[in-house]
Amino acid sequence: MEKLIFLIVIFLAGELSAHQGESHGKKEEQEKPVKQDVLNEIDQSYRENIASIFEKKCMDCHGEPKKLPWYHALPVAKNIMDEDMREAKEHLDLRGGFPFKGHGTPLEDLEAIQEVVRKDEMPPFRYKIMHWSSQLTNTEKKAIEEWVERGKILLGDEEK
Ligand code: HEC
Repeated sequence: MEKLIFLIVIFLAGELSAHQGESHGKKEEQEKPVKQDVLNEIDQSYRENIASIFEKKCMDCHGEPKKLPWYHALPVAKNIMDEDMREAKEHLDLRGGFPFKGHGTPLEDLEAIQEVVRKDEMPPFRYKIMHWSSQLTNTEKKAIEEWVERGKILLGDEEK
């Protein structure tokens, strides 16, 4: 029982901190449309190098969850997790490869991914303490960093 209360408190704490100083859904400036072959190239290297990492560590929230943990059966935990999964996909929906769905442009998505990976913000803390293996390894971070940098150059070149 104590363990259960602990889990719920942790989830609630995470939920509160996740929303500090955040602005939702802003996308004022419309970027120029990006050429399809650039997107395809980024998508191809995504599928080769990154998809398997995201599959393991991000898809539970930003895509289709493989297997929900036992505590999803608890009413409070269930609400929090469902909300997490809904909100995560609103920001960034990884189903279907690059360019991702969600509210960002392809370039914004790459920049957002780079930022959360650099700052160790994803997967969220409350999730990592439940699934220790969900933490990104240094090798995975390096692969993501390289993919993002290359993609940003490709997308940036496109704008000139
Ligand atoms: C436990 C669920 C969960 C997991 C697992 C998770 N995320 Fe998230 N993610 C969220 C939620 C909820 C948000 C939106 C609220 C926030 O920023 O905390 C979010 C937001 C983001 C954003 C910000 C998008 C924006 O619009 O700025 C990025 C980028 C992101 N996640 C990438 C990742 C990556 C990459 C992984 C895997 C390494 C990952 N997330 C794993 C729940 C999750």
